[in-house]
Amino acid sequence: MKSFLFYLLLFLHTDSDSDHTQLSKRVQKAITKERLAESQSTGLRLCVDLSMTDFMSDKEISRLAGQLRRLYGSNKRATHPFRLILTDLREDSRLYRECVRMNDGFLNYLMEITEQSCLDLFPAETVVYLTPDAEEALETLDADRVYVLGGLVDESIQKKLSLSRAGELSVRTARLPIDEFMVKKNNSKNFHSKILAVNQVFDILLTFCETSSWTHALQAWFPASKGYTIPAGDSAPLPAAAQPQGDD
Ligand SMILES: C[S@@+](CC[C@H](N)C(=O)[O-])C[C@H]1O[C@@H](n2cnc3c(N)ncnc32)[C@H](O)[C@@H]1O
Repeated sequence: MKSFLFYLLLFLHTDSDSDHTQLSKRVQKAITKERLAESQSTGLRLCVDLSMTDFMSDKEISRLAGQLRRLYGSNKRATHPFRLILTDLREDSRLYRECVRMNDGFLNYLMEITEQSCLDLFPAETVVYLTPDAEEALETLDADRVYVLGGLVDESIQKKLSLSRAGELSVRTARLPIDEFMVKKNNSKNFHSKILAVNQVFDILLTFCETSSWTHALQAWFPASKGYTIPAGDSAPLPAAAQPQGDD
């Protein structure tokens, strides 16, 4: 990062503590911006497919807008951000309006927003659609591939929507390797679910990128309420970079 030194010198040449705090915030912001801008050409590619929002209630649309805000917030904090692309998002859609209304600075987010679909942008053979109903488990993340998350919220659980969308697109599918790295945990309601929100899946992918460990990534982000856990002997302390943080 060629301008990092510039920001550092600027930071060191300030006199008072309050100037330092102000400036360190500005420096931090500038570094984040530069890292995100760089990720647009070098980051792993991830699309959120927003073609299915017609099926959703207004409440679900609002929740999805909030999840997209959290997803973007996680990417902003990441050491190695993804190149994010919101696909199939029309300016006249309910979701677009809700994102602009609810998410401060949405129109200035450092990511691509397009009405096109992932197949208009990338060759089908590079696309991997992530869906909880895929047979194949995701083993790793590959720079030659484009990962797609279904922009869906499961209030009125619409089963296998993202699997059928991937079928329509004729692209590969993969699920998070929950069966491979986690076990069911006893709970009073005997509730077990492997379906996560888009931002939760994204946090797992980011941590996997930073640690190369599904155990770390699932341990950090798989919600305890979903009734799965990492087997006791397999759990490991998280590296500082992968520690879960608050909202954006
Ligand atoms: C709330 S889920 C939607 C679940 C929905 N019933 C469906 O048809 O897939 C939103 C998106 O998160 C991703 N997702 C959620 N859980 C996942 C898992 N276990 N493995 C892979 N992707 C998952 C998928 O891309 C999914 O479309």
